[in-house]
Amino acid sequence: MAEDVRLGARGLRKSFGSLVVTDDVSLDVRGGEALGIIGPNGAGKTTLFHLLGGSLRADAGSVELAGADVSDDPPHRRCRRGLARTQQIPQPFGELSVYENALVGAGFGRGHAAPHAADRAIHALERAGIAELAERPARTLGLLERKRLELARALAADPLVLLLDEVAGGLTEGETAELCVVLDAIRAAGVALVWVEHGVTSLAGFVDRLLALDRGRVVAVGRPDEVLADPHVQRTYFGDEAGA
Ligand SMILES: Nc1ncnc2c1ncn2[C@@H]1O[C@H](COP(=O)(O)OP(=O)(O)OP(=O)(O)O)[C@@H](O)[C@H]1O
Ligand SMILES: [Mg+2]
Repeated sequence: MAEDVRLGARGLRKSFGSLVVTDDVSLDVRGGEALGIIGPNGAGKTTLFHLLGGSLRADAGSVELAGADVSDDPPHRRCRRGLARTQQIPQPFGELSVYENALVGAGFGRGHAAPHAADRAIHALERAGIAELAERPARTLGLLERKRLELARALAADPLVLLLDEVAGGLTEGETAELCVVLDAIRAAGVALVWVEHGVTSLAGFVDRLLALDRGRVVAVGRPDEVLADPHVQRTYFGDEAGA
């Protein structure tokens, strides 16, 4: 595996009973690079994130983070090594303030043992664009603000790799564009992004490479325009006639 690969997966496989949900999936993402993952409902996108993050154990295959094999590490250890993720459905601690939610991320991430967790939490809120909401109880936030809080909690962990599961899901085009400005700055700071999204167009406009999954298998990977032009991807997204 090349030296600058931040996150690498080789031959990941996962079955639930007789259903193969992840079938021989491999991927690489470098620092400062954004990899988008697309696929229809049930293609295995969230399961792949569970395997990368460690909340599910793969039946076969391996995961490398910044050059270390983390295949046997539980999620909290992968987080300490620099892997952070946002959840498809935001799950803040509703009774805690926005600031306290970010502080949780700072306490469990790569810098967990370092001083100044409060500064890291505030900086993460600033980067996510919600510093002015710091004192608000998290339960009072709207959807865009909750998505930003997911991001802030993950950023407070000072990640090398950030996994984003439908972080723009349910947002308007304008809100998604705003979020892309935030994510672009994170990418420019050298973080590796892996972003799952249903809205193919906004994702393709942002990421450096796209990976398309269908029924657990990688069907195409490469430049966004090439992947979207792939006949299998065309059939999956735009109907039979488009890819024929
Ligand atoms: N814990 C589980 N037990 C059994 N089957 C599961 C489990 N988790 C996921 N699945 C099945 O695995 C397949 C992939 O699910 P997954 O949530 O990874 O898809 P997805 O691509 O994220 O879908 P969506 O676009 O709807 O978020 C689905 O058929 C789902 O029903
Ligand atoms: Mg999903």
